[in-house]
Amino acid sequence: MSENQSQLHDTPARYGTVSRFFHWTMAAILAWQFATALSHLLLEDTAIESFLWGTHKVVGLLLIVLVVLRGLWSLRNRGHRPPSLSPMANLGHLALYLLMIVVPLIGLLRQYGSGRAFEPFGIPLMPGFEGDRIEWMMAPGFLHSWLGWLLLAMVVGHIAMVFIHRRRPRDEDVLARMLGDRQSGPSRVS
Ligand code: HEM
Ligand code: HEM
Repeated sequence: MSENQSQLHDTPARYGTVSRFFHWTMAAILAWQFATALSHLLLEDTAIESFLWGTHKVVGLLLIVLVVLRGLWSLRNRGHRPPSLSPMANLGHLALYLLMIVVPLIGLLRQYGSGRAFEPFGIPLMPGFEGDRIEWMMAPGFLHSWLGWLLLAMVVGHIAMVFIHRRRPRDEDVLARMLGDRQSGPSRVS
């Protein structure tokens, strides 16, 4: 593998450029998405809400596209990614992936079932339809919101764990492998 290729792919010591790009880009876009949801919950009928909430559906669509690509890339790199620190960490990452897929999927399902047109970036993704809403598609609405807040809670826990590992002398500093510090080895015991 050439030097350039080896930087693109993950290795057991660190995440490669592509995985890091997905991780940090999605973290920033998800932060925006949570800001839109919080504005809808707490700042209804304000200028801030009308600005932020107006982007919720289109940003949600962008996130589901990104997470599918990211999931495929992580499968391609399976076997030579940095190992999880514990089975719990592995499960936590899996749960984050599941929620990043299920939450926007339910949003899109409800959008279709509502019969209203959805044309993100001018692309006629859902033309809409006349007549009654499709009730079974609309039903999991509360799940979209609750799982969305669960995702936020899990992200907060995820960030807390990163700093807990950094402070524990016997744990590996996992932040280094996601920041792409090429000096970082597979373990840091001090
Ligand atoms: C990862 C992506 C997404 C996240 C994290 C997310 C999160 C949330 C959260 C937390 C709420 C609750 C807001 C509140 O309590 O006021 C919400 C509401 C909503 N979301 Fe999403 N969402 C995402 C994607 C989408 C998508 C793709 C659509 C549709 C195309 C969508 C449509 C809606 C709608 C219509 C509501 C309002 C529901 C209501 O007020 O009953 N969301 N979302
Ligand atoms: C919306 C926010 C976030 C989500 C959904 C998220 C999700 C994930 C996922 C799924 C992984 C597993 C590796 C992968 O497949 O990409 C991961 C790894 C990691 N994340 Fe995040 N992350 C978020 C924000 C953050 C933030 C803000 C930090 C920094 C404090 C952070 C630090 C890390 C580190 C250090 C790893 C590597 C962990 C390890 O190798 O065991 N993440 N993240």
